[in-house]
Amino acid sequence: MTSTSQAFLFDGKAIPFDSNETIAMALDRAGIRTLGAGQGNSTGRYFCGIGTCQACTVSVDGTRMEACLTPARIGLQVERIASVSL
Ligand code: FES
Repeated sequence: MTSTSQAFLFDGKAIPFDSNETIAMALDRAGIRTLGAGQGNSTGRYFCGIGTCQACTVSVDGTRMEACLTPARIGLQVERIASVSL
């Protein structure tokens, strides 16, 4: 069950999340599947879910982080990034 009082911002849009959800899980449930530049020729997305592929890299309060490993928290500012380099 989602509590609408818990939300973070993704590119300025409020995304509700449940306790113990990652950013990627909440975005997926909200129907957001394009997370940014991704790696090489692929688009950023929720793929492996375990921090291996780096496909879900987003900016979280200005720091690049894997959305699949980062717990959602109230007030986070999450943004798509234009490019990802390892
Ligand atoms: S989905 Fe692969 S690192 Fe996050």
